[in-house]
Amino acid sequence: MNVLLVGTGGREAALAWRIALSPQLGQLTVTGPNPGWPRLAQVREAGTVAQITALARELEVDLVVVGPEAPLAEGLADALDPLGIPCFGPSAAAARIETSKVFAKQIMAEASVQTAGFLQVNRDDPASVERALERLLRGDVVIKADGLAAGKGVFVCRSPDQARAAFDEVMGGRFGQAADTVLLEDLLTGPEVSVFALTDGVSAVGLPSCQDHKALLDGGQGPNTGGMGAYTPCPLLDQAGVEAVVEQVHRPVLRALAARGTPFKGVLYAGLMLTEDGPRVLEFNARFGDPECQALMSLWEDDVLTWLHGAASGALPAGRPRFSEGAACCVVLASRGYPETCERGVIITEGPNRRDVNVFHAATTRLEDGLLRTAGGRVLGVSATGADLEQARVRAYEAVEDWRFEGCQLRCDIGRRLPPS
Ligand code: AMP
Ligand code: GLY
Repeated sequence: MNVLLVGTGGREAALAWRIALSPQLGQLTVTGPNPGWPRLAQVREAGTVAQITALARELEVDLVVVGPEAPLAEGLADALDPLGIPCFGPSAAAARIETSKVFAKQIMAEASVQTAGFLQVNRDDPASVERALERLLRGDVVIKADGLAAGKGVFVCRSPDQARAAFDEVMGGRFGQAADTVLLEDLLTGPEVSVFALTDGVSAVGLPSCQDHKALLDGGQGPNTGGMGAYTPCPLLDQAGVEAVVEQVHRPVLRALAARGTPFKGVLYAGLMLTEDGPRVLEFNARFGDPECQALMSLWEDDVLTWLHGAASGALPAGRPRFSEGAACCVVLASRGYPETCERGVIITEGPNRRDVNVFHAATTRLEDGLLRTAGGRVLGVSATGADLEQARVRAYEAVEDWRFEGCQLRCDIGRRLPPS
C-alpha cells in the first residue's frame, strides 16, 4: 500500500513511525521535511490542496492520511474523493465540527449530546451583544471565538472584570472573521479527558482514553498551549467508560452528520470534561490530538494501516485495534518564548536510542553541518511506554535528560493525574 502522509509535526512523526512498521506498506511519502521521519519515507514538498492532490495522483497512492486540520478545512478530502483516493480525514463540511464551534453546538443539539450551556453572540446583532454584556456580569464564563484561532481563541474567566476584558479582546478584531460569532459558555469544572474514535462514517471504534496537559506550566498554570504532554490510557476513563462515551457522544454525532449528507471519515476527537453531572463535551476536533497521537501510536500494536485504510475507504474492520498492555507518556520539549513567540536555530543535544522510548520530532531542522537545531515552538515529543503509567512516565523523564537545548521549556508533571489540566 502506497501512502501519502500530510503534515510535518510531532503527530505526523508518530503516525509515520507506526505506518513504517506496517507489513502492508509499499512507499511512504511525506509532504515536507522532518529530521525524525523514518528512513524509508520519501519527502515530496506539497503545501496546498492542489499540490497535495496532484502529488497523490502522480504517485498513485492507495491512501492519504491527513494529520492537521487546515488541509481538511480547505477541502483536501473533497478534492481526493472524485479521484477515488481514500482519505483518512473528513470533508470540509464534516470538519466544520472542529472549525466552527457554533456548528458543533448545533450538531450536539441535534444529537442530544451533553455540553455546556451557551449564549451565541453575533458581532452585527446589537441585541445579542446586549445579552452577552449582561451575562458577563455573572462571571464564571468561557468566551470562545467561533472559528479557528490557532488554539488562542478561548478565554476561561472567573470574574466579571476578567470576562469583560476577554470579551473586549475577542470582539476587538484580533481574531478577524473567526470572531464574527462568539460563544459565551457556562464554566464547567472537572478533569479533562480526550476520547478518539476511528470511523468510516457509519461505524466507530473508541481508542484508549488520553489526557493532554494544555497549560504551559506545572499544576496547570500559565498560558494555554497546543499541549505540553499527554498520556494514555487515562485512569479516569477505562475502556468501558470510553465505550459509553463513544455510544453517547461519537455515534449520535456521526449519525447527525451523515443525516445531513456530510458523513465524517477519519478520527473524531471529543474533548470532554468529567463533571459531577457526567461527561460534557468541550470541543470536537476532526483529527488526532498532538501530542495525544504520540502517546497513542507508542502504545498501538496492530497494523495501523488496516485501520486507517478501513476508516478512509468506508470499511472499518470489526473489533478494535490492539494496544500493548500498560501505558504511554509523552513529554513535550518547547522553545524559549513558546507559546507567544519562539526562538529558532538553537542546537539540540541528541540522546542515545533507548528501548521503550521514541523521540518524535515536532519542529527541528538539520543543516549541512549535521547539527540538529530547533525550528519552532514545540520541538520534540519524548514518548515512552511502560508496564504502567508510572513506569512510562519515569522512562520518558529519564530520556528527556538526554535531549536538551538552551531555553528548553517542559512540564515536570506530565502523567501525574492531579491536578488535572
Ligand atoms: P476548547 O478549545 O473549546 O477545548 O477550549 C480549550 C480549553 O479551555 C479546554 O481544554 C478547557 O481547559 C477550557 N474550557 C473550554 N470550555 C470550557 C468550559 N465550558 N468550562 C471550563 N473550561 C473550559
Ligand atoms: N492537544 C490538543 C490538540 O491537539 O488539539
